[in-house]
Amino acid sequence: MLYPNLAGQFGSALTIGQKSAFPAAKPSDFKIGEAGVFYHPEAKTYVSHLAKDTQFSLQGTDLADQLATEFFVKDKDGSFWVSLYQRCVHLGCTVPFRNDCVSFKCPCHGSHYNVDGEWLDGPAPRSLDRFVISFSGEDVIVDTSVVHDKTPHPDASTRIIPVPSVPCSA
Ligand code: FES
Repeated sequence: MLYPNLAGQFGSALTIGQKSAFPAAKPSDFKIGEAGVFYHPEAKTYVSHLAKDTQFSLQGTDLADQLATEFFVKDKDGSFWVSLYQRCVHLGCTVPFRNDCVSFKCPCHGSHYNVDGEWLDGPAPRSLDRFVISFSGEDVIVDTSVVHDKTPHPDASTRIIPVPSVPCSA
């Protein structure tokens, strides 16, 4: 799906910084702007960067296939990157990342998403939408021209990251 950007133009590939500006972390250690999860307002994206020793819910080819389906990119150091559109897939509010419960929680009607954008609970009909992320040398590039909007609610056979152990207070 194509979306206009703030200037009324269709988005395009944006270089959002160098890899070193986005240090990877395990999901339980994510902290906005510091570890694992980073907001880039121009690209309207959260970049999640999962450390190579992340404990996933899936293994082997099941994991590899699901990561590819959900637009994750594996880096040469074994870490994984994904670019999430900031827009809540319920009714479009911008979703903040909450350090207190290491997840995204929409302030409008409570939709709740894991660090990798997977739906956790609330009225959202699917997981957060994604942009394609890629690299050119050390540059990190996000293609905002197409929003990939077909990541369904996870189930036991597709959930990539375990549900966070700390609940969101509100
Ligand atoms: S817009 Fe996010 S929960 Fe409704």
